[in-house]
Amino acid sequence: MSGGLFWGSAASPRPIDWACLFLHEHWFETYGHTLRIWGLMARPMIFTLDPVAIRHILSSPAYEKGEAIRHQLGELVGQGLLFVEGADHKKQRRVMNPAFGPLQVRRFTETFVSKTNEMRDLWMDLCSRNTTRSDGFLRIDGFAWLNKVTLDIIGLAGFDYNIDSLHASEDAPNALNEAVRTLFSFSITLSVVLQIFIPPLRKLPTKRVRETAKAKAEITEIGMRLIAEKKAAILSEVSSGASLEKKDIQGNDLLSLLIRANLASDLPESARLSDRDILAQVPTFLVAGKLRDELLAVPTGSPTEAELDHLPYLDAVVRETLRLHSPVYGSEREAAQDDVVPLKTPYTGTDGVAHHEIHVSKGDLIAIPITTMNRSVAFWGEDAHEFRPERWFDLPESVKELPGAWSNQMTFLGGVHACIGYRFSVAEMKALMFVIARSFEFKLAVSPVDIMRKSMIVGRPALSSNPAAGAQLPLLIRPVGN
Ligand code: HEM
Repeated sequence: MSGGLFWGSAASPRPIDWACLFLHEHWFETYGHTLRIWGLMARPMIFTLDPVAIRHILSSPAYEKGEAIRHQLGELVGQGLLFVEGADHKKQRRVMNPAFGPLQVRRFTETFVSKTNEMRDLWMDLCSRNTTRSDGFLRIDGFAWLNKVTLDIIGLAGFDYNIDSLHASEDAPNALNEAVRTLFSFSITLSVVLQIFIPPLRKLPTKRVRETAKAKAEITEIGMRLIAEKKAAILSEVSSGASLEKKDIQGNDLLSLLIRANLASDLPESARLSDRDILAQVPTFLVAGKLRDELLAVPTGSPTEAELDHLPYLDAVVRETLRLHSPVYGSEREAAQDDVVPLKTPYTGTDGVAHHEIHVSKGDLIAIPITTMNRSVAFWGEDAHEFRPERWFDLPESVKELPGAWSNQMTFLGGVHACIGYRFSVAEMKALMFVIARSFEFKLAVSPVDIMRKSMIVGRPALSSNPAAGAQLPLLIRPVGN
C-alpha cells in the first residue's frame, strides 16, 4: 500500500468519495477483514469489518472521537451532542433523548407531508409552464430542491421557525440557508487538511476561516433569539400553573421540547444544560433534510404517520436507499486507553499467526467503516452492491450481527453515539418519497456514471464532468399520468 509518509496508505488527498470506498473494499478483499494501515503522518489506524469488534468499540467508554475529527465537527456543527464526549455527552443526551422519541417524531409527520406538498405544487406549476421538451419532462436540480424543503422542515419541526426557502427568490436567499450552505460548501484542499492535522495553522485567517466565522455568528444570533423567546413562553406558561415534569413535556418543535425537558422539575440541578449547551445543538439540527402503485393506492395525499408506516414497499425502499447510499461514509474513534478488542473471526497477522483479539494501544485510531459494512458481500450476499428493496423481505441471518442502531445497518451508527435523529430522518424520508413518487415520474438528466459522491462529513451528489459546480443532482421530472 503506497502513498508516502504524509498521506500514509491512501494514494492521494482525495475527499471521502466513491474512490475511497472502492479503495477500502479492495484492501479488505486483499488483506482480510481486519488490518492496520498507516494513516496521515504515518499514524497507525485499525480497519475492521468484524461486527463483534465494532460493537465493542462503539459501546465502550475507552473510545472517543479523535482530535482531528472533533475539530472538523466543531468547525461545522459546533460543540453540540455530536462533539462532546464522556460525562458531558451523557448529560446532553439525557436531556435531549425525550425530544427524539417515537411519539414526538410522530407529530412531525404533518409538517413533513405538508411542506413536501408545497414543493410538489411548485414543481407542478413549473411543469405546467414548461415548453422546453416535447416529452413533457422538466430538468430540475433535485439536490437544491431537497435542500430547500428539508431546511424548511427542520426550521418548523426543529425551531417553529418559518424559513420558507422554497418560496425565497434567488436574489434574496434566506440568511440561515446561506449560512448553512457556506459551512458545507467547501471541499478538502491541502490547506484544509493541514489545518485539520496541524492545530496552530487553524489560527491563519484564510478566506475559509473568515467565511465560517461569519456563518457561525449568523446561526448563533438566530439560535439565541429563538431560545430566549421559547424559554420566556414556557416559563410564563409554567408560572401560571403546575410544575413541569419530564414525562409531560410537550411542545411543537425540537427546541421547545429540549428547553422544556431541561426545565423539568424532576431533573436534578446538576443535570441541567446551560443556554450555551442548548444553543450548541442548533447547527446539528440544521444540517442534519412497484413503489408508485403502492403509494397511489393510498386514498389521501396527506397521510398520517401510521398510514406511512403501513406501506411495506416504501419502507423497503427507504431502508435500501439508506443502506446503499449512507449519507455518512464512516467515522473514527481514538483509544483513550490500552484495550483488548474481541473478534468474531480471528485474523492472520504478518507473522502468519492467527489472532483472536486486537491489542489496541492508547492513541490508536480505529476506522468505523459505515458504508463498507452496509455494502459488504460477507453480510449482505453477492448482490450487496445492487439496489434491491426486496432484500428487506428476506434478510440473511448474517446482517443481524451488525451493531447498527436501526434496521440492521450502520447508517445511523450504534452504541452510545448512535444518531439521536434517526426516527426523525426515516419518517421525513418516507413523507418525501411518498409525495414525490406518487406525483412525479423522474429520471436522471445525466448519465449515471457522471454522478459522483463528494463528502464533507455527509455525502452529496456532484458531477464528475463538472465537480467545480458543486453539489447537484440533475433530474428530469413530469407529473404522473402526463
Ligand atoms: C439520514 C440522516 C442522518 C444520518 C445518516 C445520520 C447519521 C449519524 C451518524 C452516523 C452519527 C454518529 C456519528 C459518530 O458518532 O461518529 C450521528 C450522530 C448524531 N446525529 Fe445523526 N444522522 C442523520 C440525521 C440526523 C438528524 C435529522 C438529527 C437531528 C435533528 C441528527 C442528530 C444527530 C446527533 C445530535 C448526533 C450525535 C449523537 C451522539 O453523539 O450522541 N441526525 N448521526
